[in-house]
Amino acid sequence: KSIDAIFKSLGKQYFGTAADRNLLNNAQNSEIIKADFGQITPENSGKWQTIEATQNNFNFNDLDFLVNWAQTNGKLVRGHTTVWHSQLPNWVDQINNKATLTSVIQNHVTKEIGRYAGKILQWDVVNEMFDESGGLRSSVFSRLLGEDFVRIAFEAARKADPAAKLYINDYNTVEKGASYKKTTGMATYVKKWIAAGIPIDGIGAQAHLVAGEAGNVAPSLRLLCAAAPECALTEVDIVQASANDYVNTIKACVDIANCVGVTVWGVRDPDSWRAASNPLLFNSGYSTKPAYGALVQTLGAM
Ligand code: G3I
Repeated sequence: KSIDAIFKSLGKQYFGTAADRNLLNNAQNSEIIKADFGQITPENSGKWQTIEATQNNFNFNDLDFLVNWAQTNGKLVRGHTTVWHSQLPNWVDQINNKATLTSVIQNHVTKEIGRYAGKILQWDVVNEMFDESGGLRSSVFSRLLGEDFVRIAFEAARKADPAAKLYINDYNTVEKGASYKKTTGMATYVKKWIAAGIPIDGIGAQAHLVAGEAGNVAPSLRLLCAAAPECALTEVDIVQASANDYVNTIKACVDIANCVGVTVWGVRDPDSWRAASNPLLFNSGYSTKPAYGALVQTLGAM
């Protein structure tokens, strides 16, 4: 049984991975995705720099490819990501008035999310907007619009695809423990925004861990999951991971009722953004590593 099949038998929606056109056209990699994963997340093809490098000139080639591949192969998709300060083209960074930035956000979110309406399970509408002290990261979005850019982006997203679950996603939110300021800050802001009627459905915790942090995931994720209707681990990888690190991290989601799924950030170590650090579940020979078997054993017995 695959981890995805075990996840589904435990009431979860998916066990997913990140990919893009190059990795889906790689036969060995795509066979693993077909057999072992239930959801794919575009690693880079959904980012602003890829989608709208010049204003109102949209390039959906690689994201179309991924969404079509997922549909053909019966896989769910997590959309990643519309509003993010990074991988953001200069023309957006240089905007200097509120009205222009508002309509630019609305246009980008509407066109990207609207194109795939009905085909995407979840969207990371806003990515990495918090700083390490739990406040708003300084970006063109927060400098011009304050926290209102969150409402602007989520309202446009809801209109563009009423069926998609809309997520706010961030890193360093489950690594440092449940009292870490970024974790409590995210939970507090999201509760406030949901209470104010902003259509946020879920909190995504990326979970790019380093060794020794896995024990912090369960209590931190519990705090975040209590702040929204649903939650997910969205980009899991673990530097020099032991099998136990993987089990502790992924079991944390399985143990929380409204945690709907886990995405690992790639299939094979050499294809990871952290290629040098042994972070994923498959090795360079496309074989499963000990963490994979440990997950099947532990989760399969639940
Ligand atoms: O595709 C170009 C290629 O044409 C060019 O020759 C080459 C030379 O630099 O760059 C290639 O693009 C790179 C791209 O990955 C595809 O490999 C970019 O430079 C590189 O910056 C990009 O890195 C990605 C990074 O996000 C920045 O967007 C990583 O693959 C991706 O794993 C990483 O993912 C992020 C999540 O989106 C958000 N959370 C953190 C996570 C890890 O950083």
